[in-house]
Amino acid sequence: MCGIVGILANKPVAIDLVDALRRLEYRGYDSAGVATLENGHLDRRRAEGKLRNLETRLHEQPLQGHVGIGHTRWATHGRPTERNAHPHMSAKVGVVHNGIIENYRELKAELSSRGHVFETDTDTEAVVHLVTDELDKGLEPIAATKAALAKLQGAFALGIIFAGHDDLMIAARKGSPLAIGYGTGEVYLGSDAIALAPFTDTITYLDEGDWAVMRRSGVEIYDEAGSRVDRPKIKSVASALLVDKGNHRHFMAKEIHEQPEVVSHTLANYLDMGSGTIAFPDLGIDLAKIPRVTISACGTAYYAGLVGKYWIERYARVPVEIDIASEFRYREAPLVDGGLAVFVSQSGETADTLATLRYCKAGGQRIASIVNVRTSSIARESHAVLPTLAGPEIGVASTKAFSCQLSALACLAIAIGRAKGTITPAKEAELVKALIEVPRLMSSMLHSEQQYEDLAQYLSKARDVLFLGRGINYPLALEGALKLKEISYIHAEGYAAGELKHGPIALIDENVPVIVVAPDDDLFEKTVSNMQEVAARGGQIILISDAPAEKCGCKLVAHIKVPKGHDFANPLLYAVPIQLIAYHTAVFMGTDVDQPRNLAKSVTVE
Ligand code: M6R
Repeated sequence: MCGIVGILANKPVAIDLVDALRRLEYRGYDSAGVATLENGHLDRRRAEGKLRNLETRLHEQPLQGHVGIGHTRWATHGRPTERNAHPHMSAKVGVVHNGIIENYRELKAELSSRGHVFETDTDTEAVVHLVTDELDKGLEPIAATKAALAKLQGAFALGIIFAGHDDLMIAARKGSPLAIGYGTGEVYLGSDAIALAPFTDTITYLDEGDWAVMRRSGVEIYDEAGSRVDRPKIKSVASALLVDKGNHRHFMAKEIHEQPEVVSHTLANYLDMGSGTIAFPDLGIDLAKIPRVTISACGTAYYAGLVGKYWIERYARVPVEIDIASEFRYREAPLVDGGLAVFVSQSGETADTLATLRYCKAGGQRIASIVNVRTSSIARESHAVLPTLAGPEIGVASTKAFSCQLSALACLAIAIGRAKGTITPAKEAELVKALIEVPRLMSSMLHSEQQYEDLAQYLSKARDVLFLGRGINYPLALEGALKLKEISYIHAEGYAAGELKHGPIALIDENVPVIVVAPDDDLFEKTVSNMQEVAARGGQIILISDAPAEKCGCKLVAHIKVPKGHDFANPLLYAVPIQLIAYHTAVFMGTDVDQPRNLAKSVTVE
C-alpha cells in the first residue's frame, strides 16, 4: 500500500506534493513525508500520523526545492513513527516506496558488512543504501539505479531523487501501480492518476517491470530488460472524479446516500430498461457452455462475490467455486477447461486478487473483472471488464462499491442463466424488473436515520456483536460484521444462522446483541427458529426484515423495517441497513469513520 508522488517543476514543489498526497491518503495514513533538493542537497520533512501533521511541520520549516518526492504510509515493516516515515535518504539519494522489498534482510546484511549504517526498521532503506552503494562505486545515477533494481526482489513502486541532480527523478514499477504525468516544462509521478489530477490529465501508466528516467523536458521509459520502450500517453478522466463530502459529515455517509443513483447507473450498463431484458457485454466466451465459474476477491468484494455464488448457482445452475484471494493464490486449486473466472475489486489493485487473476489466466480461464477503477491493474490484465459505476469511493469502509458489485453480479447471473436456458424470457423479465425497483426502494430507506442513531447508543456498549443470516443473507451477515468492526472497533462476527448451535451459541447472553438479517423469504421460518434459540438464552435480538415483528415470535430490541422487494434483489436492499448500523455506531463512538485505524483503502501488498 502507501502512496507515492514526485514532481519536477520550476517552482517550489513541497505544497503541491502534499496536495497530491492528500488524494492518496486512501492508500495509508500512518505517517507522511516529503523530500526536495535544496541547493543540490537533499532535505526532508516527515511526521507521524495524518497528513495535517506534515503540513504543520512544513509550515514551521518550509522546503523550497523544485524537485521532490512525497509519501503517505501504511506501515508494513517498522512501527508508524517519524523515524520510519518516508522519504528515506542518504546524503546522495532520496527514496519513496510502495510495496515490499522481500530480500531486504539479505541486502541489509550485505550492505551493513560494507559499512552502510541503517537507521530505520523499514525494508525501503535497503533501496537507499543499495543505490548509494552503486554511486559510491562511481556509477552515474541512472546506471546505479539500474544496477540496484536488478538486485531487488518483491513488489515496488519507487520514486528516487539524487543530490546534485536538479533535473532528474527515476521511477520504477514492479507489482505496484505507477503513473507518470506530463505538464508544460514539468513532469509528475504518482501512485495513480487521481493524485496528479490537478496538475495534468496526460498520463502514462508504467507496465510491469518498467523504469523511467524523468526530466523536465521529457521522460524515457525502459522495460525490465533495459530496452527503451514507448508506452501510450492517455487522457485521464481522473480530474472529473475529484470529490468532496458535499453536505455530509463523512465520505462514508455521502457514499451510502449515493447508492440509489450509482446502483441505477451500474444496472443501466447491463440492462435494457425499456425491454426489461439483460444487455450484457460479450465476455468472449460462450456463456451457454461454461462448466464452472470461479470467483475470487478480498474483504467486502469477497462477500459480494459470495452473494454472486448464491445467485449464479440458484438461477443459472452453474457450480461456483469461490475463495478469498489470499487463500486461493497458494492453494493450487485445479481449474476446469473452458471456465470463467471472475475477480471483484473496487480499487482493481488488490495484490492478492491480482495474483489470483494471474493464476487463473495461466490456467486457461477466461478472465472477467468487476472493478470500479477502469485503469487499474486488474482491469488491464482481464480479458473482459464489467465496470461498476460507483464513482470514487473515498471512505475506507466500502459501501457503494459493494452495492454496485452486487448489481453487476446479479446481471451476470441472469446473463448466464439466460444463455444456459435455466432462466426463461418471462423469468428474465421478472428478475430485471426486480432490479429496476432497487434504487427506488433503497432511496426510501435513506430518508430517516433516527432509529439507527438510537440503536448506535445501545450497540456502543457492547463488547461483542453477532450477525446472523441464512442462504443468500449469510454473506450480508458477514459483511455487516466486517463493516461494524472496521469502523467502530467493536468485535463482531457473522454466522450462518443454522451454524449457531454448532458452537457460537455458547457466546450468547444478555450482553450480546444479535443482529439478524432475515427477509421474509422461503428460509424465514428457519431463521425464526434460530432467533428463538437465541432469545431462549437471553440474547438481545435486532431484526432487519420486511416481515412484521410479530412473525418472529420473540422479544426484539429493535426492528429495522426494510421495504418489500423481490427476493432476488434483497441483498441489495439489506446492504443499506447494515451499513447504516455500522456508520451511526462509529459516529456515536467518535472513531475516525473515513480513515479507521490500521486500514487503507487500497491493499497493494499481500
Ligand atoms: O479494492 P478491493 O475491492 O479489492 O478491496 C478489497 C478489500 O480490501 C475491501 O473490500 C475492504 O475489505 C474494505 N475495507 C471493507 O470495507
